[in-house]
Amino acid sequence: MDLLEYQAKELFARHGVPVTLGRVIENAADAAAAAEALGGRVVVKAQVKTGGRGKAGGVKLAADPAEATERARDILGMDIKGHTVRRVLLAPAAAIAEEYYLSFLVDRANRDYLCIASTEGGVEIEEVAHSNPDAIAKVSIDPAVGVDDAKAAEIVAAAGLPAGAVDVVRRLWAVFVAEDASLVEVNPLVKLADGSLEALDGKVTLDENAAYRHPDHAAFEDKAAADPLEAAAQAKGLNYVKLDGSVGIIGNGAGLVMSTLDVVAYAGEAHGGVKPANFLDIGGGASAEVMANGLGIILGDTQVKSVFVNVFGGITACDAVSNGIVQALEQLGKQANKPLVVRLDGNNVDEGRKILSRANHPLVTVVDTMDGAADRAAELAAQA
Ligand SMILES: Nc1ncnc2c1ncn2[C@@H]1O[C@H](COP(=O)(O)OP(=O)(O)OP(=O)(O)O)[C@@H](O)[C@H]1O
Ligand SMILES: [Mg+2]
Repeated sequence: MDLLEYQAKELFARHGVPVTLGRVIENAADAAAAAEALGGRVVVKAQVKTGGRGKAGGVKLAADPAEATERARDILGMDIKGHTVRRVLLAPAAAIAEEYYLSFLVDRANRDYLCIASTEGGVEIEEVAHSNPDAIAKVSIDPAVGVDDAKAAEIVAAAGLPAGAVDVVRRLWAVFVAEDASLVEVNPLVKLADGSLEALDGKVTLDENAAYRHPDHAAFEDKAAADPLEAAAQAKGLNYVKLDGSVGIIGNGAGLVMSTLDVVAYAGEAHGGVKPANFLDIGGGASAEVMANGLGIILGDTQVKSVFVNVFGGITACDAVSNGIVQALEQLGKQANKPLVVRLDGNNVDEGRKILSRANHPLVTVVDTMDGAADRAAELAAQA
């Protein structure tokens, strides 16, 4: 999970990294009061999960509360690389003497952690890497040791940061470890006019596999920004990813579902470029309830015109899956309003097919092969 700047700074503050939290607002009407409380002269910063906000016009200085209102009005609602700005952070304008770059990340290739640090901060680090590679220090970190005083001093010396940065480096490492982050990046880390250091920006990626250790991280989730179908699927424990097409897909097993997406996209070419609408793996135990939940999510997608249920019976045999489909259609009632193409194979396939033909549901077509079923589902979506 990626955090917004103001959320990253909240985490930094918990570990004693010098930051100024500022105020987050969603309405330009609240900007003047917030700016007033922060001393009048502020920066207004778009809170979106993408880089290059400054370049895109999403970071602006305001000399007084009236100007802060103007800038907030400009920036709220802006589109930055496909992200709509719904919140801005107001922070006191800092008296910047120098801007540095510092990050910790997982270095998979070398099976350890990496610190990247530079005195050329404030600009995109990729640009520095091209124009002035010698200005970038890369220091690898032994996971068993971490960043102790000696390592922090090594990082500071390698990058040419001021000696006072040793403490900030250690504290940012504490954020990285204690919060189970896979990225902690500060650009810029600044030296202020009075010589003190402050993290003026922050990017943090949290490792979701460790979420169970951090119940407090749930508060960082941006529920409004999540796709509503994906959020509903997640709430039901379904493995669902929304895509752009019109053929809803349900399968059991991630590998089978992935190949179903390919087969449908291929079959769709013959029907005017019809594409899959989602990834949904209902897993091994395809009970009627799981099938109903899955169908419910897919039928709730207004882009879906037909549904392809592709099941390979294994531990859960085809007859159980067929019963699941029949019961799910009963449970969904009128909500089930789009044609279903079902392909079953594997354990107890004959019994499974019999159950579906006995049920004789008007929306269900059974097709024996995966390619044939994909073609039929694509055709039905194209005709709708
Ligand atoms: N509180 C502040 N006071 C003064 N100047 C600031 C402040 N915050 C940011 N700036 C200036 O604006 C520049 C861009 O800010 P910031 O790094 O937060 O956004 P960005 O780099 O454009 O965004 P991203 O890191 O997402 O690419 C900084 O390098 C700094 O010069
Ligand atoms: Mg930045």
